[in-house]
Order: sequence, then structure tokens, then C-alpha cells
Amino acid sequence: MPANLVVGAQWGDEGKAKVIDYLSKDTDIIVRYQGGANAGHTVVVGGNKYVFHLVPSGIIYDNTVCVIGNGVVLDPEYFLQECADLEKSGFKVKEKVLISDSCHILLPHHRLIDEVRELGSSPEGKIGTTKKGIGMCYADKMLRIGLRAGDLLDKDMLKRKLTHILDVKNQELVKYYDLEPVRFEELYKNLLSFADQIGNNIVNTIYYLNDELDKGKRVLLEGAQGTGLDIDFGTYPYVTSSNPTTGGALAGSGVNFRHLKDVIGITKAYATRVGEGPFPSEILGEAGEILRKLGGEYGSTTGRPRRCGWFDVQMLKHSIVVNGINSIVLTKIDVLSHYDTIPVVVGYEYKGKRLTYFPSQGLEDVKPVFAEFKGWKDDISGISEFSKLPPTCQSYINSLQELVGTRIGIVSTGPDRDHTIIMK
Ligand code: IMP
Repeated sequence: MPANLVVGAQWGDEGKAKVIDYLSKDTDIIVRYQGGANAGHTVVVGGNKYVFHLVPSGIIYDNTVCVIGNGVVLDPEYFLQECADLEKSGFKVKEKVLISDSCHILLPHHRLIDEVRELGSSPEGKIGTTKKGIGMCYADKMLRIGLRAGDLLDKDMLKRKLTHILDVKNQELVKYYDLEPVRFEELYKNLLSFADQIGNNIVNTIYYLNDELDKGKRVLLEGAQGTGLDIDFGTYPYVTSSNPTTGGALAGSGVNFRHLKDVIGITKAYATRVGEGPFPSEILGEAGEILRKLGGEYGSTTGRPRRCGWFDVQMLKHSIVVNGINSIVLTKIDVLSHYDTIPVVVGYEYKGKRLTYFPSQGLEDVKPVFAEFKGWKDDISGISEFSKLPPTCQSYINSLQELVGTRIGIVSTGPDRDHTIIMK
């Protein structure tokens, strides 16, 4: 059976978790493949809201096993806290989650350095990170001075590796950042305690996933963040430090590319981003605040107000190309039930010339080209049939589909599972 992929087509927060929730009934295994506790996936089931950061959102279904893939950076403290919170809400976590022995462990110095770099940065250097240490953990992975989940399973190996890591990182903390060193004994003890609690869940998920796929199991790869935040395809340097895109899904899970079938791109009917960085369709001032309030656009991880903008066709086309998206889910269309006309960015101009692509450099200097669509003011929240939408809303959806050139398969009209239109 195939693996399908749910990927963010904008700058994250597109409503991926709702789609995963919707698809989970036909899924056996749900895999997180990148990012860490920087993600905030919100699922509303039966009026109850659950926010996930590290644990795949599939944990709330009895029928699914959840995998934290090798591409994730796992913060033990956050993970245990999230497990405890979920178990308090009645979900079985430890019985259902598998952690890749190759996923990197986020250590206290990663968080400390992320925070100090963000606070001390010049306006030019400030990324607006979630301060969860994500970039620092990935940097150490690439520098080959990281600790992996499998290292926790052997006390002596853990001692050796942690000694070396702290020898190097404590020098950096003290000499470069003027911070206190991380104390070995305390960290070693905490990691052993983490291994005691979760050690049985640490396995080679690469073989597990491919074997299960060979046996006919259905796998859903759950992206965090989005294409605009991709370290290679996003608005560098205002990005996260991983690849949320399709290549990252394979590299971060070990799922053989031959298993991959559908790539489902999730996009809001408008756009948002958190943190710094160019955002051509951004709505500034009071008008932006109105959309933020209508959409409840505040970060589920940091609580920060999200920057709001109009739907950007050029950006979506970029996501479609980079990810191989063959089906789109359009979320939060109900939020737009307020406007007489709805602007959409249909292209960019740079130095007076129309661009035919999403540029790797200079996005902050492009001039967005707008088209306007007729709005609707009827309340459409919860509608589950396309034909019941006001004609101007149908026409907005059809126009977006035509402009991006890829099928919109699902439209979401509200946070609950039933607030969903399956397009014929
Ligand atoms: P980091 O991932 O914490 O290093 O943050 C880098 C950039 O990615 C910042 O602009 C963050 O606001 C953004 N970011 C990280 N995770 C998310 C997410 O889940 N949703 C939206 N933005 C995110």
C-alpha cells in the first residue's frame, strides 16, 4: 500500500492537522518527519481542542501507530510533558508511539543558544524563531556533534558521547555566548530517566515503516511548518532549519520513494506567516488586524499574532512544483465571509518586469500584482456540500484552482471534522 504525504504549501499553520484527522480513518501509521516542538498542530474533535507539538496528531485515534521519524529533533522535556498532558486527556501515548533511533535529541544548550541569538540579534539577523532550539539542534546534527535517540539505550555510550558533546558545547556557551555551562551530571541523569521511560519505544523506524508498507499498511507522512519555511525552498534565511517539503519527508522518515503516492498540499484560502521575512501578499495595519481576528490567527506554540495576507498564487505554484503536489486542500474559507471583494496575488513584478516564478532572492522587493474576486457575506461555516456555498464563494474556489493549475480536492469550512467539503 502507498504512503501519502500531507505538506504545508504556505508558511505553516495551514490547517494540516485537521486534514490528517480527516484522513486518519484510512491510515494505519502516521509519521512526523521533520521539525520538533516548534510545530503546533491543532485538532478539534467533537468540540474538544487538542494541540500537538512533537507527538504526531494521529495519537488520538485507536487505529493508528505514530512514528517520530529520524528527521525530527526530539526535546525529551517537551515530549514527556506532552505525553503526560495527552495521557491526562485519556489518550494512550506510550503504547502507540515509536521513536526513530536516529532522531536527534534536543539538548538544553540548543534552547539556550537559540534564545540568546534571537534576543541579541541585529534586526538583520533576527529570524523570529520559536526559541525552542530547533536550528541549533539541526546545526549540531550537520556538524556531527549531535546525540541520537539510539544513543540513550546504552549508558556507557551515552556517557562517552555526552562528555564529548559538552566538552565542545560548553566552551561555546561560556566563551562565545557568555552563558553558564550545562552540567554533565544533571543532564546525564535526566537523559537516563528519559531512556527509562521511553527506551522501549526507540526502534529502527526506517525498516519498520518500509516493512509495514510492503505488508500493505497505509502510511501518512505528516509535515510540520510549510514550504515557505523550508531551509532550501523557503524564504531563506527566514525559514526553519529543516525540509518540510517532499524530499524532507523521504529523508526524514526513510520511506522508500517508490512507496509515495499522493502529495496533498494544504493551503489557507488566504495566507499567514509568523516571525520575520518577506511576505508579498501581507495586509498591514488595521485591515490585517481584522483578518487576524476573523481567523483567530495567533500561534499555537508561541501565542504570537500571525501576520496575515491574501492568497498568493505565485507562492502556491512554487509549492506545487517543489513538492509535486497533486491535490490541494483549501482551509478556512469560512474566515473570508466578511468581504465585498477579495484580493488575490496573481503574480509578482520585480524592477518593472513580471516574474514567472517565486524568486530565491529579492522577494522583499517584489511588487505583488493583484486580481479581485467578488466576496460573499453569508455565514458558510460548517457547510459540507459545494453546491450549498454562495455562487461567489464557489467561483472564488474555482478561480483559485484554475490559477494554481492543480485540483482542489477538499475544502474546509470550519475546525470540526464534519466541516469539510469533498470536491467531486
Ligand atoms: P524555528 O523553527 O523555531 O527555528 O523558527 C524559524 C521560523 O519558522 C520562524 O519564523 C518561526 O516563526 C517559523 N516557524 C517554526 N515553526 C512554525 C510553525 O509550526 N508554524 C509557523 N511558523 C513556524
